[in-house]
Amino acid sequence: MKTLAHPQTLSDRIENLTESQTLAMSKKARELIAKGVDVINLSLGEPNFPTPEPIVKAAMDALQARKYTYYTPVSGYLDLREAICEKFKRDNELSFTPEQIIVSTGVKQSVANVILSVINPGDEVLIPSPYWVSYNTLIQLAEGVCKTIPSSVDTHFKIDPQQIKDAITPRTRMLIFSSPCNPSGTVLSEKELAAWAEVLKEHENIVIVSDEIYEYINFTGKHHSIGSFQELRDRVVILNGLSKSYAMTGWRLGYMAAPLWIAKACEKVQGQVTSATCSITQRAAIVALKSKLSETDDMLKAYLRRRDLMAGLLKKIPGLKFDIPQGAFYIFTDVSSYFGTHWNGKKILSAEDMSFYLLEKAHVALVPGEAFGDPNSIRFVYAAEDEKICKAVDRIEKALGELRR
Ligand SMILES: Cc1ncc(COP(=O)(O)O)c(C=O)c1O
Repeated sequence: MKTLAHPQTLSDRIENLTESQTLAMSKKARELIAKGVDVINLSLGEPNFPTPEPIVKAAMDALQARKYTYYTPVSGYLDLREAICEKFKRDNELSFTPEQIIVSTGVKQSVANVILSVINPGDEVLIPSPYWVSYNTLIQLAEGVCKTIPSSVDTHFKIDPQQIKDAITPRTRMLIFSSPCNPSGTVLSEKELAAWAEVLKEHENIVIVSDEIYEYINFTGKHHSIGSFQELRDRVVILNGLSKSYAMTGWRLGYMAAPLWIAKACEKVQGQVTSATCSITQRAAIVALKSKLSETDDMLKAYLRRRDLMAGLLKKIPGLKFDIPQGAFYIFTDVSSYFGTHWNGKKILSAEDMSFYLLEKAHVALVPGEAFGDPNSIRFVYAAEDEKICKAVDRIEKALGELRR
């Protein structure tokens, strides 16, 4: 039996788990704000719009009805899962049955459910990088092995199908990615996904997890899902949710559409961990999913305008390299040309050093690329008011101008 070094020893699993760096940066920013510092927080990937009125009304009606305050089925109310199936048919031309849908407490839980259901210790998971922060942490929690496939601003943050081919081994069990991508804003086209599918169809053991939470925040005019390739249909898991597209981050609703064998396993995991998500949120979600709300289109227009505003301002700063994002609400900016510069005797050698410098000097909170598997870049969120964007970039420009070789 293992003897404990200290009575308050935590599990190795938790000791090895890294704290979400997006949340860590936000915490640090909040600490500064509490001290009275005027910090502009561009670190959290969160719409700055209120939830659209019809959704709020649906929640209030559900509360008033007094019959939606009980436990719901673990996988979500049947009429919600039917509404999700209709959404897949309407928007993606994909057919699912309600049994294939599992509604969760945010897409974060859907990611955890699928990883815990499929990954055994030592199984390898391919993650195109940069990637969303929680993928690799949750894989670590399941004792899987993350195998990142790198991209950079020079490849428009896209990977080549040959890179996928080269990364596959007999232990590869999963590929997980987001398109539109957090943090790069990259959107994969039908042709690019077809090329991925061509490689993946040869490897039946690989479960493909496609995180489509930014589906509606896409400036290319058309969203494509890898789930539409027939040859992969029995092992693609599509994740989606309401946090971003409907400005509902606090409501906590995500969902997955999966082959039955995976859906059943995820229901089992969720049934032991949290049960279903909030009943009132589920009632409101039906209204959100059934209607094409004009508010979502308005938000998309606002994001596009803000993207152009921020990109235009960042372009004027020497040494920053970025791609104009095609979706989501982030500009992932390569700051490596500033590595080796210094301030107050401290050298800036990484994106993390740069983020802390910008927080201390410019009072702008941003998340360093290390959190997303890219130590050269920093993620700028443009889901913020125009004045905030202008003020933040202005402060950043001045702070960068003070760095010396
Ligand atoms: C790519 C991606 N997936 C999943 C999530 C989790 O979203 P939620 O748990 O709020 O549904 C986020 C949130 O930032 C995200 O960016």
